[in-house]
Amino acid sequence: MKIDILTLFPESFSALKESIIGRAVESGILKIKITDIRDFSKDKHKKCDDYTFGGGDGLLMTPQPLFDAIESVIQKNSYVVYMSPKGSLLNQSKVKEMSKIEHLIIICGHYEGIDQRVIDTFVNEEISIGDYVLTGGELPAMILVDAVARYIPKVLGNENSVINETFSNNLLEFPQYTRPQEFRGLKVPDVLLSGNHQEIEKWRKEESFKLTKKRRPDLLENKAE
Ligand SMILES: C[S@@+](CC[C@H](N)C(=O)[O-])C[C@H]1O[C@@H](n2cnc3c(N)ncnc32)[C@H](O)[C@@H]1O
Repeated sequence: MKIDILTLFPESFSALKESIIGRAVESGILKIKITDIRDFSKDKHKKCDDYTFGGGDGLLMTPQPLFDAIESVIQKNSYVVYMSPKGSLLNQSKVKEMSKIEHLIIICGHYEGIDQRVIDTFVNEEISIGDYVLTGGELPAMILVDAVARYIPKVLGNENSVINETFSNNLLEFPQYTRPQEFRGLKVPDVLLSGNHQEIEKWRKEESFKLTKKRRPDLLENKAE
């Protein structure tokens, strides 16, 4: 998968060089290119924002640098996403679906956002990472990249990780424990030490169900039997 990220703040993306995503990029499984929208500004001061027509607070990202930046990366198979609090809410099934895209272009807004003509001309989908407003689309873009990359084969060492985890089958994951068996008087549940795989599986299912019912009963409404 190839991902082009268009931003006014390219340095924000250093986090993508770390850990699992960093290794996926290094090994070539995932290609990420960050483009500085400002490099495309034809303004003599490289300005990329201006006041909104009709009045209102704050500045809006202007169309020219964005049109040129997008046109420099777009291909026939590109899917263009604009990170926006007005977009459809991101969830795990959407993330899984997006991992099949060959070429993803992510536009990060800033200030009051971007000129509507950019959205109307290029954007296939506006995506929100939650019902709150952030200062820019850089963190949302990194969240999208991280979540989608986990579904790309070989990015995670263990492919089963995405099958047995929170949100798979509309359940939250069961509690997990590692060594030591007892820490400061706190013990690991006996069943997990029993070696009885059937009992362990049963316990995990029950715990998943209990936790989901308590914290996210909405997920159970959509659960396949
Ligand atoms: C301050 S916000 C703009 C908010 C916009 N004026 C509105 O009321 O919908 C600036 C930029 O941050 C990004 N952003 C903020 N909140 C977001 C969210 N919940 N999901 C995705 N992107 C978000 C978008 O790229 C947006 O263009």
